[in-house]
Amino acid sequence: MKLEEVQATEARLLLTTYERSPILFAGGEGVFIIDEAGNRYLDLLSGIGVNALGYNHPAIVETIARQSRALIHTSNLYYHEGQAELAMRLTERTGLDRVFFANTGTEAWEGALKLARAYAGLKRSEGANIGTKFLALEQSFHGRTFGSMSTTFKEKYREPFAPVMPGVEFVRFNDVADLRAKFSSEVCAILVEAIQGEGGVRLLTQEFFAEARALANSTGALLIVDEIQAGMGRTGKWCAYQHYGIKPGAPTDSSSSVGWKPDVTTLAKPLAGGLPLGAVLCTEDVARVIHAGMHGSTFGGGPLACAAGVAVIDTIEKEGLLGHVTEVGNYFQDRLRWLATRHATITDVRGKGLMIAAELDSADLAKLTVGEMLKRRILINCTSDTVLRFLPPYILERAHVDTAIAALDEIFTEHAVAHSAAPPAGGQHHG
Ligand SMILES: Cc1ncc(COP(=O)(O)O)c(C=O)c1O
Repeated sequence: MKLEEVQATEARLLLTTYERSPILFAGGEGVFIIDEAGNRYLDLLSGIGVNALGYNHPAIVETIARQSRALIHTSNLYYHEGQAELAMRLTERTGLDRVFFANTGTEAWEGALKLARAYAGLKRSEGANIGTKFLALEQSFHGRTFGSMSTTFKEKYREPFAPVMPGVEFVRFNDVADLRAKFSSEVCAILVEAIQGEGGVRLLTQEFFAEARALANSTGALLIVDEIQAGMGRTGKWCAYQHYGIKPGAPTDSSSSVGWKPDVTTLAKPLAGGLPLGAVLCTEDVARVIHAGMHGSTFGGGPLACAAGVAVIDTIEKEGLLGHVTEVGNYFQDRLRWLATRHATITDVRGKGLMIAAELDSADLAKLTVGEMLKRRILINCTSDTVLRFLPPYILERAHVDTAIAALDEIFTEHAVAHSAAPPAGGQHHG
């Protein structure tokens, strides 16, 4: 099918959930995705943070080919070796003890919410005074299914489907006083992204994270960190919370507020090299609440996705990509800061590793910039109206950053020239 035919068929047959850009992609290689006419696009979004190893990486392609010849699906009624292999790697790298495999980010997050409610129930049965309420953060994004949507901040995601799950309160981002005011023994879990993704690439402060950990410890509530976008190496560490002091595998003292390990974390996006796979990880203490039959998934943790997950982790390590992500990410931020000295429209540059934002002073210009970059065959996106977001593959090189910076420089320069040449607002001419 040609693009026009695909567009017409989709318009007739699909729910209108997406506003797609008019490009038909057919292939990819390294950091480039290729359309049906053979045009190559520099992908600085990597399928919204999924294609960490870029396109057509031999380790992923060969693993999927080999595993699909051997075994694609078993159900969770039987064993295959993939879940054990991947669980060993994930627990070692996150510092947590046990894993449940799901298919997507939102499904992993639902699992985390269920763990929190069940764990609070267990604690109550042991005599603790602990309720069922969730504290989430303003600007959070945790997914589109009911529990995830209910803990997601923006009204536009929740309002059409009301009533959403009750018992969720939102705390102002990085506002320690607001967190303290809203925390009580009614709370079963504090929910955070260490670095908010859809909310505009915003980093939690050390102070806020420490207070969340200390408050949760004070009642036995859980601290749950969503690493679906920031995890799996995107920020130069396996999990973004590891920038806040926890070393993978280090023991946490649950009575101490210096224990940085969350009680529960969730992973998805790049976990299986482009195949759908999500994971909930938790401590041994939290895990004791789960018994056979309480939770499950037909597809979650299938042999194909798990084999790809093992290949992703082994490749990231073999190719030294965590260090590379840090190095190229720092270079990217430096170049964006240089750009900000030339264009006052850039009001902030922030991020960690290859999770980077350039905030503009205009939502219109941000939207226009995404379109202009696309015309120059570079993929980025805009989140939270004014934030240009970059989530490139981990294999990005400095030369690709230079290409992107040159394109942005040209776009902002052209816009400034057009803007200064335009008649003033209102179009009144005097004299
Ligand atoms: C932090 C975070 N949590 C959860 C989700 C939901 O993941 P999925 O789209 O795989 O359901 C996303 C997706 O963007 C996310 O960024």
